This record gives sequence, structure tokens and C-alpha cells, in this order.
Amino acid sequence: SLSDMGELKSGTLRLAVVTTAKYFIPHLLGPFCKRYPNISVQLNVGNRQQIIERLKQGIDDFYVFSHPPGDLNTESIEFFNNPLVAIAHEEHPLVQQAEVSLAQLCEAPFLMRENGSGTRLAIENFMSKQGVKLNVKMTIESNEAIKHSVMSGLGVSILSAHTLTFGGHMGLAQLRVKSLPINSNWYFLWLKSKRPSAIAQAFLSHVQNEGREMLLTELARCEPI
Ligand code: PGA
Repeated sequence: SLSDMGELKSGTLRLAVVTTAKYFIPHLLGPFCKRYPNISVQLNVGNRQQIIERLKQGIDDFYVFSHPPGDLNTESIEFFNNPLVAIAHEEHPLVQQAEVSLAQLCEAPFLMRENGSGTRLAIENFMSKQGVKLNVKMTIESNEAIKHSVMSGLGVSILSAHTLTFGGHMGLAQLRVKSLPINSNWYFLWLKSKRPSAIAQAFLSHVQNEGREMLLTELARCEPI
């Protein structure tokens, strides 16, 4: 309860989040840890498959997914939207276009996340529903490495718009691709058999009370002009 929160003096908050969530979780941890200075934090970051493994083992207090596994007995809170957008380097000819067709996007060399990535899963599901095929030139195991590869002109990609927030859009532009973004949402998840600790519950309410507005502001800042 809220009155218990004031009593939280020490302990460890253990979180495991997918790589698209690492762009905002630290911004929520900042004010939270300021409020509870004696709490320590263990933040694990991995792709969807890696975080599913941790969830199965019940290692952490809770987990952040945008494509939660369907086969586990979990409870979840839907937190915020996670739009996947197409990016290119700032000078890319497609950036100037008021509208880019999916076919045009599919012609460009595409930089794809690795197997096990939820981002990749969402892109593949979306493209197969649309009946189109991307021209995958490179497979890259990190959002940052993809962003830098896009900046250097190696190709285009689709990533969570949140990878562009908090200053992360330098050298990159969003493409206005018809029928994008791919919509997904983040969920805070835990095994039903393992209820969140008092610290974890305090963080969950902190996130829900203070997180959304900050994310809205940040997303608006990196929208295509
Ligand atoms: P990921 O992130 O691509 O690193 O697995 C998961 C997701 O946003 O679904």
C-alpha cells in the first residue's frame, strides 16, 4: 500500500527488460532511487528470448516485454505503446518523400535484428501479413549497432521509436512509410507464482504515476517533421 512505501528503507530491485525498454527504464529509476536512496538495483537487459529464459527461472522481481510469451502463467500491466518506425540516415533520398510505399522500403537494403528479438518477430509478422518481403542485407544484434550502421549509410531499418528518444535520434530520420508504425505495447510481467516484492510494487506504482507523461513528451520530440 501507499503507506508502506514510505517504510521502504533498503533492499534490491531486480528488473529484467527487453532491449527496447532500456531507453526509458533508467529515466524512471533516477527519480525512484532519489526517493529511496538505500535501495540498490540490478537491471538486466536482453532480447526477448533471453528475458523469457529469466522469467521462466523467476530470477527477477518483474520483467518488461512488448511481446510477452503466451505459454507462461503470468500477470501483467499494460504500460505504454511501443511503436516500431522506419529509420534512414538524414540525407537518405527517401527522407524527403511525403510518403514512402512499403514496396520502396522493401527495395532498400535492410538491417535486421537477430533471431530471438521481439522487434524482429514483430517486423516479420507484419511483413508477412502485408504479403511483402524485406531486402535483408545485414543481421545485427543490437539497436545501437543498427542505428550506427544506418547512420553510416549501410541501409535502413525498423526499430522502436523509443530508441530515438532522449537525444538518440542524432544523424537519423524517420521515414513516413505507409501503414507504419507497427504497433506494440510494453507490459510489466511477473509469474503468478511469484508476487512482486514491496520494493517492486513501489516501483510499479512509480512507473505508472510518473512514467507515461515523460514518454509522451520524448516520443513527440523525435517524430518526423
Ligand atoms: P528485443 O525487444 O527486440 O530486444 O527482443 C523486445 C521487444 O521490444 O519486443
